[in-house]
This record gives sequence, structure tokens and C-alpha cells, in this order.
Amino acid sequence: MKYKYILATHAGGPEVLQVMETDLRAPARGEVRIKVLASAVCRPDITVRSGKALYSGTPLGQKFPFVPGYAAVGIVDAIGAGVTRVSVGQNVGALTVIGGYSEYLYWKSDRLIQMPTGLDPAESVTLILNYIVAYQCMHRSARVKPGEKVLMIGASGGIGSSFLQLGQLAGLKMYGLASPEKHTLLQAYGAQAIDYHTQDFVSVMREAEPSGINVVFDGLMRPQTVNGALSLLCPAGRLISYGEPAGFGDLSRVLSRMTAVNLFSAEKSCRLYGTSFYFLGKQQPFLEDWQKLFQLLQTRQIQPLITQKFSLSDAAAAHRLLESGSVCGNLVLLASELL
Ligand SMILES: NC(=O)c1ccc[n+]([C@@H]2O[C@H](COP(=O)([O-])OP(=O)(O)OC[C@H]3O[C@@H](n4cnc5c(N)ncnc54)[C@H](OP(=O)(O)O)[C@@H]3O)[C@@H](O)[C@H]2O)c1
Repeated sequence: MKYKYILATHAGGPEVLQVMETDLRAPARGEVRIKVLASAVCRPDITVRSGKALYSGTPLGQKFPFVPGYAAVGIVDAIGAGVTRVSVGQNVGALTVIGGYSEYLYWKSDRLIQMPTGLDPAESVTLILNYIVAYQCMHRSARVKPGEKVLMIGASGGIGSSFLQLGQLAGLKMYGLASPEKHTLLQAYGAQAIDYHTQDFVSVMREAEPSGINVVFDGLMRPQTVNGALSLLCPAGRLISYGEPAGFGDLSRVLSRMTAVNLFSAEKSCRLYGTSFYFLGKQQPFLEDWQKLFQLLQTRQIQPLITQKFSLSDAAAAHRLLESGSVCGNLVLLASELL
């Protein structure tokens, strides 16, 4: 039997995403084969495909061709020898980083995220990347407390909309930067919206919160924004940066500033957040937090904002839409039988 997958043939625009076909094979030892029901379309898929990710063009960068797709959910369809943790028919997710844009996925059984049954695949796939970033930034990195004042730099996208829902649930007083056409989204979750195109967020925040704010969640990692954000923090204030910097220049300027704050300021602290910790021996907190998120979804305490669903073959159209900057929330590729 043949199955389809999407190949990014070389660095470039969405047109480099080609629909390919290959034969299904049996899973290798320790591997499971997943019938993919939904794949997330997210910002890192685009930066890597376009060759604009931080490490693109370096020995650590993604080699072409490759199958994009940072996160996927589906059903275990076959198991290889030695697999005992999961069985055929079980719902699972995978933080794949690459490989998620496919009808079938081969994945190491010890890297699977076990999922409850009955969840909507389009909604649940947003938990695998966008919600886990927002949840861990809030509850592991910043350890927010109800009533704290927070600013979200990038409040309307995939991760930003997850912050809004989780922030409302955590009882935070929220401010967020977004384009004006997306302000109703922020307001729907009780956040005060700031138009970063026309307003200086530092002045707006100083006026709104003269005694400072407790936490900034930074999805940009730009030196100027980081400096502005730091100037707004009150005593015991925390800056959590999770965005991918535009280049090594920005990265080194932001890191030196953060290091200086952590070394010399008794009043403020800075942390970087990255899902890469999942692959660096810190799996357990992720597995625990995904289960909490699945529970929040099951009880409808979170309701992921799915802006549009596409078929796998329309991955290029999904990339075009996300790159247009008009998306509020999440885009998802769905298995054809679910569309
Ligand atoms: N650390 C990790 O593990 C991890 C994991 C996934 C993603 N990321 C990174 O996190 C960042 C956000 O990802 P995402 O999926 O949420 O992206 P996204 O859906 O494309 O959203 C981007 C957000 O940034 C806002 N924005 C863009 N330019 C801005 C500016 N100059 N000033 C203020 N806000 C601006 C956008 O606002 P408008 O659209 O309203 O203009 C939007 O809210 C990306 O850098 C991504 O690579 C990190």
C-alpha cells in the first residue's frame, strides 16, 4: 500500500513543498507506525522550509530534502518488535520537529505521547507544540500566580492564542502585542491589546501599570524589545523568551543582556524557554504537562482556536496563509477522511 507525505525539496517558498508517495513498510524494532490524523502547521515549519531558521546554512541546520511537520497526532497502526508501551489502536501524539506532514509516521515508541481517546485531532495537535510552549513558559519557567500582571509579545498567533486561554484560566491580568485586526481576539480573553505597529508598548505599559508588571513572555527575541520588556518589570519580575531570534547577532545581544540581568540584578530574572529540553533528557515534565493539557481539553477548559483546516496535499496553501500574517490562532493539516 502507498501513502502520501510532503517533501520540502530545497530552501524556498511554499512551492518547494511537493506531494510525494511511497510504500508503507513494517515498523522497525522499537518503532511504531502511526496513522496520522492531524499535523500542526506552525511557525518553525516555515522558518526551516524557507532556510531562515537560526541554524539554516550551518552544520547544525536542517538538510534538504526533508519532511516538515513539528507535531502530529494519530492512531498506532502497527508496532515493531520489542514495543511494549503502546498497542495498536491507541491514540498518540509526537513532537516530531520534522516529519509530521505525512499520512503515516514511523516513530520511536519511547518518544510517544500517550493520549486519551475521544479528543478532536485538530484541537489536540495544537497541544503538542503551541500549548505546551505557553503552558510551560507560564507554569514552569515563570511560575505565575493568580492576579499577576503579564505582557505577551506576540499574543495573536499559535502560541499567543494559547497564552491567552491559559492566562485567563490562571487568573492573570493580561496585556498583549498584536496587529489591530486581531485585537478582538485578545479582548475576548480579557487581555488589553497594544498595536505594536503604531504604539510604543513601553510607554503604553508604563501608563497602564506605573508600578511595573510581573512577567513578560517574549516571542520575538529582539534586543530592543527585550530591553523595553526588562524596563517594565517590577521587583521579582521575570522575562521568559521563547521566540526564535532572527540571527546570531540578535541572539548574542539578547543572551548577553539576559546574563547581565541574572548576574547583577537582585530584582529581575530572565529565562530562555525551548522545547529542545524535551530531547535533552527532560522528558518527564513534558509528559506530565501534556496530560494536564489533555485534561483541560477534555473538560473544555481550553478550546484551541483552529483558523483553518487543510488536506495534507494543501500544505503549501497552509504555509502561504500562515506567512500572510493574517492568521489568528492555529492551522492544521487533517487526514482526508476527517475533512
Ligand atoms: N521555544 C520554542 O520551543 C518554540 C516553539 C515553537 C515556536 N517558537 C517560536 O515562537 C515564536 C512565535 O511562534 P508562533 O507559532 O506563535 O508564531 P505565529 O503564529 O506566526 O505568531 C507570531 C506572533 O508574533 C506577533 N508579531 C510579529 N511581529 C511582531 C512585532 N514586530 N512585534 C510584536 N509582535 C509581533 C504576531 O502578531 P500579529 O500577527 O498580530 O501581527 C503574532 O502574534 C516564533 O519565533 C517561533 O519560531 C518557539
